[in-house]
Amino acid sequence: MILRYLGHSAFLLEDKYIKGLIDPFLTGNPMASFEESWIQEITHIFVTHGHGDHLGDTLSLAKKNNALIICNFEIGQLLQSEYSNIHTMHIGGSFEFSFGAVKMIPALHGSSLFFNETLMPGGSPCGFLIRTKTATIYHAGDTGLSLEMQLLQEESIDFALLPIGGNYTMDSKDALRAFHFIKPRKVIPMHYNTFPLIQCNAQNFINSLPSEVGILLSPGETLSWSR
Ligand code: NI
Ligand code: MN
Repeated sequence: MILRYLGHSAFLLEDKYIKGLIDPFLTGNPMASFEESWIQEITHIFVTHGHGDHLGDTLSLAKKNNALIICNFEIGQLLQSEYSNIHTMHIGGSFEFSFGAVKMIPALHGSSLFFNETLMPGGSPCGFLIRTKTATIYHAGDTGLSLEMQLLQEESIDFALLPIGGNYTMDSKDALRAFHFIKPRKVIPMHYNTFPLIQCNAQNFINSLPSEVGILLSPGETLSWSR
């Protein structure tokens, strides 16, 4: 499994069966860093919620690549007027895709989105548990700390991608508590330093985790993983 960090909450997962983007906020993202080849031949795009810093370039990249968008029902209904290759799911639901299984995990957050310049309700925000053939990844989306996260410790997660920037989501203190709930092998912090309101010293967060658990990826950085 190759995991690439594109900045903010945007990641690319790549193995033999998938080249999938999660929350591809690239245009207008002051922290975005990636190579052009990373966003070509995309097979899937996961959207955790409707906010612009997550939905981001989903529609344009999906259209360019004919990628399958995986999102909640409400966002799917809105996007449908412009694009048809969409798989909608909802909280607690799992589905077996060609590359592996996906489960929608609850997130404590909002999900409205501007669509045709009107603010629309975007259903429930979510996180994604993505079990590919090469790694199990939990992308928390935007969320506060929740007791529900304890349920994830049974999932044997390789990578938990957790927001740490505070204000809109968990801060680094709560992300540390989330780590103890989830018990993943590795933690990668996200959703910090993009805007003034989410400034956070990510290295301090990494240092607060047990040794070898935290991985600080700078935007544009790539990690290779095999079990
Ligand atoms: Ni948000
Ligand atoms: Mn956000």
